[in-house]
Amino acid sequence: MPINSIDSLLQEERRFPPTEEFAGNAVATRSLYEEAADDRLAFWAKQARSLHWHQDFTETLDWSNPPFARWFADGKLNVAYNCLDRHVEAGNGDRVAIHWEGEPGDSRSLTYSDLTAEVKRAANAMITLGITAGDRVAIYLPMIPEAIVAMLAVARIGAIHSVVFGGFSAESLRARIDDAQAKLVITADGGWRKGTVLPLKPTVDAALAKSGEHPVTNVLVVKRGENEIAWAEGRDLWWHDALADAPAEHVAEGFEAEHPLFILYTSGTTGRPKGILHTSGGYLTQVAFTHKNVFDLHPETDVFWCTADVGWVTGHSYVVYGPLANGATQVMYEGVPDAPAPGRWWKIIEKYGVSILYAAPTAIRTFMKLGREIPQASDLSSLRLLGSVGEPINPEAWVWYREVIGGGSTPVVDTWWQTETGAIMISALPGIATLKPGSAQVPIPGISIVILGEDGTRVDPPNGGLLVVSEPWPAMLRGIWGDPERFKETYWSRFAALGDSTYFAGDGAHVDADGDIWLLGRVDDVMNISGHRLSTAEIESALVSHPIVAEAAVVGAADATTGQAVVAFVILRSKQADKQTSDEASALLRSHVAQQIGAIARPREIFIVTELPKTRSGKIMRRLLQDVAEGREIGDTTTLADTSVMQLISDKLK
Ligand code: WT7
Repeated sequence: MPINSIDSLLQEERRFPPTEEFAGNAVATRSLYEEAADDRLAFWAKQARSLHWHQDFTETLDWSNPPFARWFADGKLNVAYNCLDRHVEAGNGDRVAIHWEGEPGDSRSLTYSDLTAEVKRAANAMITLGITAGDRVAIYLPMIPEAIVAMLAVARIGAIHSVVFGGFSAESLRARIDDAQAKLVITADGGWRKGTVLPLKPTVDAALAKSGEHPVTNVLVVKRGENEIAWAEGRDLWWHDALADAPAEHVAEGFEAEHPLFILYTSGTTGRPKGILHTSGGYLTQVAFTHKNVFDLHPETDVFWCTADVGWVTGHSYVVYGPLANGATQVMYEGVPDAPAPGRWWKIIEKYGVSILYAAPTAIRTFMKLGREIPQASDLSSLRLLGSVGEPINPEAWVWYREVIGGGSTPVVDTWWQTETGAIMISALPGIATLKPGSAQVPIPGISIVILGEDGTRVDPPNGGLLVVSEPWPAMLRGIWGDPERFKETYWSRFAALGDSTYFAGDGAHVDADGDIWLLGRVDDVMNISGHRLSTAEIESALVSHPIVAEAAVVGAADATTGQAVVAFVILRSKQADKQTSDEASALLRSHVAQQIGAIARPREIFIVTELPKTRSGKIMRRLLQDVAEGREIGDTTTLADTSVMQLISDKLK
């Protein structure tokens, strides 16, 4: 049974109102909902104006060419200025922006003045390398402060960053560099992970060696791992040399609100990742607003920690742009939770007095399995708010998070959003809401969400259906890089008959009698593994790229820890089937997928089979394979071309 099956959710009756103390000091007030309901656009315009504009805007939203939105379009701002100089000028230059903790135990703290100075130099270094507004810069870095500096420096000069998660393979990096036609790559020699140095620069070398038509002229290399690396004279430059040679002063210029800020690749239902495009003014408005109100941020006293890697959207919005736009002090950690021992996160919370923690359910479930003794060995009393993101959180994990990590009193906010939405869309506001474990609850003020049936009619609560955003929102994606048709088709065609403003998110959801929303997972061929998105088609194409494979089908099967796990069914080419045992072939193919895409895509299991269930038109029936993978009774097989296939598969797996 999926970990968030609707049957178990609807039996969840625990309720957690805020304490009086929390409610009394809360940043968010009920009036936000009223203001937004009265005049949604005026509400967002007001939020936007809490940023610094080089030139104010006169029009809030231009939706004359849907689905291509323009927010605050005639305004000008500089995103990096808003995250840096603004705070220094307001007298907060000495406030710590980043408490960075390296995995081996080294640490660095950077104030807003330090960070501003670094970003100015990095911006000048990039200008020296010929990077100008609109150019794409690929960033492939570990979780070190330079990742944030690099992103902000790119933003500062109006270039566009494409951050690629350091766990992706050379092949995945190559595809992203090529698609965005990046001119510059910023990487590190290596970074610390699980007690050793994970090399990164060699992966960049491999990606560029294979790369087809890319215009990469330089590779900037941060020294972190001290591992030995090859050097391409003329192309490769040390980050520290480039910054030392660069002028210290840089005046931030205002760019149009719709100037592109970043591209972030994510998996869809086809084998090709899509470059989600975000722009400046609307994105920054919504990430700053949600970061402040959902996390109840008191920037003078709070220490915020979002544990996500900057390679994912959560890292973009709630490690970089949200916290820094709000002048927050935050923790950034390089490594894994169990290096050198399982209690590392809790030691970090104790060391820096973290007050707000934002993490994924998979991590929480992993800690649950290890036992409460581990967190209880550290002083976690500084925590006053917990957040969850990336995948459905089951009520058991929610309650454990609150009880064991939050000391039984902290609110837990479950935040639903996507790479495409840019910022949080559904979440309770702590201090206002009575919380329900397992439910993301309500759209944030200024966001309109409806749950529709397959036929497009609105479902009457309590009932389930498909999640749709029904009005444009400031942080919405502006497109898929280089592919406007795919943008329209993927998100705006499912309910096009209902009008221009129906964004189909790809998620199933239930709405209860109080109007609270319970997320039920993806309804398309997209999987969610530990809060990371993977496509079945992408892994299938990695599998069939191996010479021993004839056919492959991949499903996401429920997994008690990671939410879903990748399970593959593979038919070997007939010659191979005799030469190799199934176990050998599975092991070989599991590493092949990890090498092709990255370790996160490595299947939990690969079953070698002789047939796959297909309809008469040749479409693989993943639903049936999912039944097998989850150990369930196999569902309706009447539409199969050959109804005996499932029997064959299940006999084989017994
Ligand atoms: C998909 C988006 C949001 C940033 C990290 C993932 C799932 C996300 C929740 C939640 C249930 C969630 C959805 C969504 N998801 N947050 N709180 N409850 N499901 O970003 O890789 O773009 O994935 O993650 O299925 O569509 P992403």
